Order: sequence, then C-alpha cells, then structure tokens
Amino acid sequence: MRIVLLGAPGSGKGTQAKLIVKERQIPHISTGDLLRGAIADQTELGLAAKKVMDAGELVSDEIVLGMLKDRLNQPDAAKGFVLDGFPRNVRQAEMLEELLSELDIQLDHALLIQVNPDEVVARIAKRAQEEGRTDDTEEVVRNRLEVYREQTEPVADFYRKQDIVSEIHGTGSIEEVHDRIQAVFRF
Ligand code: AP5
Repeated sequence: MRIVLLGAPGSGKGTQAKLIVKERQIPHISTGDLLRGAIADQTELGLAAKKVMDAGELVSDEIVLGMLKDRLNQPDAAKGFVLDGFPRNVRQAEMLEELLSELDIQLDHALLIQVNPDEVVARIAKRAQEEGRTDDTEEVVRNRLEVYREQTEPVADFYRKQDIVSEIHGTGSIEEVHDRIQAVFRF
C-alpha cells in the first residue's frame, strides 16, 4: 500500500504514520525526519536546510526530491510506504508523479487529516515544551501554517482530480483518529 499523508503542521501526520506502518509493515518516510537527520549529521545539506526550517519555510524542491528518491530506491520501500511531509506543493506532487511512474507504481490513498488551527497551535506549543523542536516557536508555527495554506493545501486538489483523497477528522484521541483511517482502508 502506498499512502501520502496530508495535513497542517501538528495535525498528527507523524503520529498516525507510525501506527499505520506498524500494522502494515511498510516504511514511514518523513521528509521532515530525513532533513532533521541531515542536520544531526551536520552535512552541508543539513546546515543549509536548518536555516530554512527554523524560519518555517520550505526547503528547495530539488534537495527534498533528491533525498526522497534515495529513500524510495531502498529495498524496503518496494512493498509500499507511508509518505509524511511530501508533497508540500503542487510542483512536488508533479515531481512525485514522475518519480513513481519511472518506478512503474501508483499511489493508493492521499489521506487529508483535518484539524482546526487553534488545536494545532495548542498541540505544537505542548510539544515545544516537551521536545524543544527549534521550529516549534509560536512565530515560526504561524509561518508554517501560512506556508501550509498557500502552498500545501492545493496539493489536496491535485489528488482529488485522481479521486484518491479521503478526508479524516483529526481531533479526538490518537486511537479515534487511527480508527477513522482504518475505516478508509477497508473501502
Ligand atoms: P515536518 O517535519 O514535515 O513538520 P510538519 O508538517 O510541520 O508537521 P509536524 O511534525 O509539526 O506535525 P505532524 O502533522 O507530523 O503532527 P505530529 O504527529 O508530529 O516539516 C518540518 C519542516 O521541514 C518544514 O517546515 C520544512 O521546512 C521542511 N520540510 C519537510 N518536508 C518538506 C518538503 N517536502 N519540502 C520542503 N520542505 C520540507 O503531532 C504533533 C503533536 O501533536 C505531537 O506532540 C503529537 O504527540 C500530538 N498529537 C498527535 N495527534 C494527537 C491527537 N489526536 N490529540 C492530541 N495530540 C496529538
């Protein structure tokens, strides 16, 4: 199964991806995690990406696509994947189409997790206290939400045209949201 998770920052993409991959035995591919890995390894790419991420802007399409391509070419991704954080704009969605068609595969689902902005701001404020992620400050979160509205929301329309979008209410407990996702997979 090949799934793309869409949703605002803090909507629960990473949380739900972890539950899906556990059940389905497929890898969780998060471009945010790949970028944070490059920062932790202090690679040239990571150092350049850090400034952009700390401002809540998007890292260049080419850099992220390059990382994604490497990851999708690893053997464990052959049986499926949950993609979290990519595509982030329509250009990335088009790039992903090309990449998947080169590999002769297609997406099965684009799951859009809907959570209202007040709830995501509250969740991220809590995570900021617990984990100290450097892009979780109030000012940066507001910019991430703006970038989401302007650049990432149109991605859902891109997949609506392919008739693979399912919208999930992302409020309630983590288990409740997961049950809603499971119900989508049953159809
Ligand atoms: P990324 O790492 O993708 O962050 P994000 O999209 O902003 O998402 P978050 O990780 O904040 O939220 P989430 O939806 O995964 O929610 P989570 O499960 O963590 O990207 C970071 C940056 O990297 C970007 O700003 C950009 O600079 C760069 N980047 C990444 N991909 C890129 C790309 N493709 N192109 C260009 N740049 C890119 O949950 C959030 C919190 O809420 C957690 O604490 C969780 O425990 C809690 N929570 C989850 N579910 C619930 C629930 N049901 N009830 C209560 N709390 C909950």
